[in-house]
Amino acid sequence: MRIGVLTGGGDCPGLNAVIRALVRQGERVHGHEFVGFRHGWRGVVDDDPIALSVATTRGILHRGGTILGTSRTNPFSGSGEAVGALQATLGRRGIDALVAIGGEDTLGVAHRLGGLGVAVVGVPKTIDNDLSATDVTFGFDTAVQVAVDAIDRLHTTAESHDRVMVVEVMGRHAGWIALWSGVAGGADVVLVPERPFDLDDVCERLTRRHAGGSRFSIVVVSEGVTPAAGSLVLQEARRDEFGHVRLGGIANLLAPEIEGRTGFETRVTVLGHVLRGGTPTAFDRMLATRFGVAAADAVADGAFGAMVALRGPDVVRVPLAEAVAELKTVPPALLASLAALVG
Ligand code: F6P
Repeated sequence: MRIGVLTGGGDCPGLNAVIRALVRQGERVHGHEFVGFRHGWRGVVDDDPIALSVATTRGILHRGGTILGTSRTNPFSGSGEAVGALQATLGRRGIDALVAIGGEDTLGVAHRLGGLGVAVVGVPKTIDNDLSATDVTFGFDTAVQVAVDAIDRLHTTAESHDRVMVVEVMGRHAGWIALWSGVAGGADVVLVPERPFDLDDVCERLTRRHAGGSRFSIVVVSEGVTPAAGSLVLQEARRDEFGHVRLGGIANLLAPEIEGRTGFETRVTVLGHVLRGGTPTAFDRMLATRFGVAAADAVADGAFGAMVALRGPDVVRVPLAEAVAELKTVPPALLASLAALVG
């Protein structure tokens, strides 16, 4: 079979490991041929291919980013012409099936194309870990490790200067990265989107901690947090082609408020895209490799409309519809169980 491959949405450590494993398993075990498309769905709409074979995917296992490039293009966002162009590309290039590697948005497009008769298999990726059909997504472990390394470093400088450090991490509307890195990094306060925060309460906790003898504090804040009503006013942000607001910057609003209300000198670090860049951890390389192998097998079996997913120790196939149905957020019980550590 001739298989088209694309990576869509935000890049994520481990994408190249998926591509490499998919091509190796496909070529060597199933005799598939591959065509890469550049920059997500845009490359299929614009017919922008790139050669993909065992030979062209050597040496990429440990490399961050994606050799295919990516974009947040949504072919369904306009008048429908883009979808026609996309289907024409598939016909012209003799593509029998597509493997779409992406998050909620990319897989949502894959699911809709499946409904139009395109043979698609999905592979879940996102540092946010917010896809409900899989236990975990690759990229998350790397993002958490980068955040923990940064928090460790911020601890020593915070201690030296008797400061409050506000550390902002990505994660969109799910607090997984904030909670994991906050707990593993020994933060004193962790704010997640799942629970609106009250700034007075945060300041009270910091004041109590400092009254108890601590001279510094670390506050980890997820970029998608919202203040409890009346606590702080936020501006409406810009949106992308999938209608998502562009997040980032909340820490810069919080820090002066914290400093003003508590009197503690406060500094901000926004980790942002640093969490997405660079070398994937061994865990993410392994998970991405297993997903790549499973996707090649799924195409060979004709399991279209499926996404590969981790369930317990196993990589399984789940319907794409299930994968994009619901955002996986941090459950209240998990937050409550860690409240003594991070508030
Ligand atoms: O979904 C992954 C993610 O990194 C989010 O955590 C973040 O909000 C968003 O992408 C940033 O997107 P962009 O790269 O378009 O700024």
